Amino acid sequence: MAEAALKAFVCGHPIGHSRSPMIHGYWLEQYGIDGSYTAIDVAPADFPAFLKGLAAAGFRGGNVTIPHKEAAFAGVQRRDEAAEQIGAVNTLWFEDGVLCGGNTDAYGFAANLDHLAPGWARGDIAVVLGAGGASRATIHALKQRGFNDIRIVNRTVSRAQELADQFGKGVSAHPQAATGELLGDAALLVNTTALGMHGNEGLPADPAALPDHAIVTDIVYVPLETPLLAAARARGLKTVDGLGMLLHQAVPGFERWFGRRPEVTAGLRNLVVADLDAKK
Ligand code: ATR
Repeated sequence: MAEAALKAFVCGHPIGHSRSPMIHGYWLEQYGIDGSYTAIDVAPADFPAFLKGLAAAGFRGGNVTIPHKEAAFAGVQRRDEAAEQIGAVNTLWFEDGVLCGGNTDAYGFAANLDHLAPGWARGDIAVVLGAGGASRATIHALKQRGFNDIRIVNRTVSRAQELADQFGKGVSAHPQAATGELLGDAALLVNTTALGMHGNEGLPADPAALPDHAIVTDIVYVPLETPLLAAARARGLKTVDGLGMLLHQAVPGFERWFGRRPEVTAGLRNLVVADLDAKK
């Protein structure tokens, strides 16, 4: 078979679990584009050489996932604003032969809420649970969308404090014990911790303390309805699951490599949901 005209990839270690090939493969087929998107397992020691060889291998670019996002940040020649703020690169492309790196997680986070909870960014106050990489992307998105009181809650407060110091004005760090009082006037609650994930069942916060108009969203999408989202829904609050963030963060990369801005449709979502169900 002839090689596809436009080639892209996702690299990680391990990479078998990645749903990116399913997402990009769906769009390539939908739009009839002569392109390929393949999963490549790259061990950490091999990552620098992998980056150097991309152009010669004919790649237009690709995605980078765990554990290479920081190495990609260090290894590219140019970065976009989101990557600079988040300190990690998840999308690679070439501009005039220069290897560029961007981060589309903040875009994906905001686009998911724009899609499923229009008006979500009208408030000023947000509570973010967790202080890892996903938390950074979320805080960047919240700042960009005008939240001016962003309260980070983390088991290890020093990690939350590091983020608060980095993001500056309007971002504060808090211990878990303060969660209840922090939620009382929040417009948005975001879980970015691993709590609620399959195999790590638990409630990262009790949505009972939130006001009636609050929106609750989770970065975790396995399971689709986390214990936090279930509790928020039972309390009558608007909830948005994390799968949409995964789908939307793929949009800017696809457009760069394949030249068409793809749409996040019910058909795409159903395809990924069926795969999640099959692997339960
Ligand atoms: P990611 O890059 O995906 O955000 P991470 O850097 O491993 O992942 O961060 C995971 C987050 O989940 C952290 O905020 C972590 O809290 P600590 O900084 O205190 O480790 C949080 N987390 C994981 N398990 C948790 C648990 N059982 N209870 C509370 N927080 C937890």
